[in-house]
Amino acid sequence: MQNILTRFAGSSIVELAQRHGTPFFLYDQQIIEQRVAELKQFDAIRYAQKACSNLAILALMRKLGVVVDAVSAGEIERALRAGYRPAGDPPGIVFTADLFDADAVEAIRTHRIPVNVGSPDMIAQLGKFFPGAQVTLRINPGFGHGHSRKTNTGGEWSKHGIWHEQLEECLKLGHEAGVNIHGLHMHIGSGTDFEHLSQVCDSMVRAARRMGPQLEVISAGGGLPIPYRKNQARIDLNAYFQLWDKARKEVEHIVGHPVRLEVEPGRYLVAESCALVVQIRSIKKTGNNSFYLVDAGFDTLVRPSMYGSYHEISICPADGREITSAHDVVVAGPLCESGDVFTQEEGGVVVTRKLPEAKVGDYLVLHDSGAYGAAMSSNYNTRRLATEILGSNGQAEVIRERQTYDHILQFERIPEKLR
Ligand code: LLP
Repeated sequence: MQNILTRFAGSSIVELAQRHGTPFFLYDQQIIEQRVAELKQFDAIRYAQKACSNLAILALMRKLGVVVDAVSAGEIERALRAGYRPAGDPPGIVFTADLFDADAVEAIRTHRIPVNVGSPDMIAQLGKFFPGAQVTLRINPGFGHGHSRKTNTGGEWSKHGIWHEQLEECLKLGHEAGVNIHGLHMHIGSGTDFEHLSQVCDSMVRAARRMGPQLEVISAGGGLPIPYRKNQARIDLNAYFQLWDKARKEVEHIVGHPVRLEVEPGRYLVAESCALVVQIRSIKKTGNNSFYLVDAGFDTLVRPSMYGSYHEISICPADGREITSAHDVVVAGPLCESGDVFTQEEGGVVVTRKLPEAKVGDYLVLHDSGAYGAAMSSNYNTRRLATEILGSNGQAEVIRERQTYDHILQFERIPEKLR
């Protein structure tokens, strides 16, 4: 029997739903604080803001002493507006990408942002628009790992990072371009396991040996998994840190001076902090199957449709009644597309979930939706982006208002001759 979840972040879900409408993402500040505290052994926690880049979440990270990664000019803009400054040791903002687009060139030049480069071409380009830049090399160690093929970022079929054999070439390019290559970074994918991790650590040590004394910082990348299913174990963070710390010590021995060890999680810091609250608007039967149709789809949470990702689902009865019976249902959204189903596996196979017997008007909570939830939302089917709310000790504050149709349509134009 599914847990009946009625409060999250100390707030009543039904009250919030009645006040703000659905769907909404509700974040629990205390969970984020706890996750940050768990990673404090690292010299720097660099938040991969692509997971959830709401300004309030970034401001919270800054208050907690977490620095930030940006993968676009827009993410640089967000970091600056949340109060981050690029300077410092560790730098407040680092730009990571495999290419510079025109907006990124402008933002990096203007704000003098350190760069984690993922392609050799970026080195000479950076030398032209920001000579003297601080640079780390994102290395593709030749293998990768991820929770889905789409989140594996290593190996020769991955577009990410500098191929490990090109390290010396890049150091030479850096010298010629007049940029300061002082670090190495490896992120092989999201959903790492320990076997792969120790291979990454070995690769890092090998790369450090080839780089020598100019190496001052190494980054473990992100990819720390979270238990999306109730029976999954939590990652052993101490073992994770020990593996990297051992690699760091070997690197320090090789280069002959202290080396900063950074970690770059997105999911780990925010995924579990968030409940996506939706409302059941229709319950129907199709042959042997029952459907709960809810007022948000893959426009709001794309992970199940995109990767077959699993999110726990709980019910909040709108009238507070006790529900004792459960049955197998498919949970689906409002979009005009058959893949708009929250209960599906990789490859788009629709499956059922045992959920409490609900009525139209009840609320469902999709758990662990803080990472790559709101951040990957879209306006598909011209649906408005959902409200985001930050809860802390029972105080709930809106941190993104529900979009309006004016917001969605403001940049569209009907040419005169079509009017
Ligand atoms: N660093 C780099 C260079 C990355 O590319 C990523 C994620 C991270 C750090 C953070 O990874 P995390 O700790 O969050 O696993 N949309 C997918 C995940 C895509 C990850 C992209 N890069 C999902 O919903 O699972």
